[in-house]
Amino acid sequence: MSQAPTSVSIALDADQAERGLSGLEGAKPQAGAQKGTLRRMALRHQSIAAIAASLPGACDVLLRHKIDFCSKGEATLALAAEARRLNLAELQAELSATARQAEPYPTEPAALIAHIIERYHKVHRLEFPGLIDTARRVEATHKDRCDCPRGLHDLLSRMFEDLEDHQHKEEAILFPIMLNGGEPSLHQPIARMLQDHVELIDALDLMADLTGDFAPPADACGSWRALYVGCRKLDSDLRVHVHLENNLLFPRFS
Ligand SMILES: [Fe+2]
Ligand SMILES: [Fe+2]
Repeated sequence: MSQAPTSVSIALDADQAERGLSGLEGAKPQAGAQKGTLRRMALRHQSIAAIAASLPGACDVLLRHKIDFCSKGEATLALAAEARRLNLAELQAELSATARQAEPYPTEPAALIAHIIERYHKVHRLEFPGLIDTARRVEATHKDRCDCPRGLHDLLSRMFEDLEDHQHKEEAILFPIMLNGGEPSLHQPIARMLQDHVELIDALDLMADLTGDFAPPADACGSWRALYVGCRKLDSDLRVHVHLENNLLFPRFS
């Protein structure tokens, strides 16, 4: 699908990248800035949620460095880098370089909802069943090993069941109301969706624990390796999916 340009103008040049500056709006995760009125603010002082919402490609960089932009996105980049013991200047440069190449997320509700359904809802539905089946086979084959990811099949099955219910509510009830311009009564359903997202992120954290952060043993078979590759992709996809709803879509109607 075509993506509408983000309403936040990201104007990075070499000097800005060097100084860690971006054209991001100061505080709001949802992009609402207009060209010419942007406050120039050092990237290091931006919140993680604002960077993830406004800077193209930032989610990939943040995921790579295990910086949480879903549930703890209010921390500044400087604080997050310190907590993860990362070099702040290198992190800023990486974000700036990625922003020049990445495609921005749609910001208009209709385009954003279409993107969420096509890129995330449909992809989860396609990929979950194969992952669940592979987890079942790997657990059955390697049940005697101490590094077997016991419980992963059950966890993935529960996650998929809960996610299907959640996505159905969004597609059948919440998104159509939003596409019609929203209404005051959306506060409660959005609050329920946000709570589901918290539980989903908890399940992802558990999945990372069960798989040793998606690192298969050195002698793992092909299925075991493929399972962990799939789990890592699921983790990335679901975190970005949640982020787009929490920080870009829902604030438009809250
Ligand atoms: Fe969704
Ligand atoms: Fe959702």
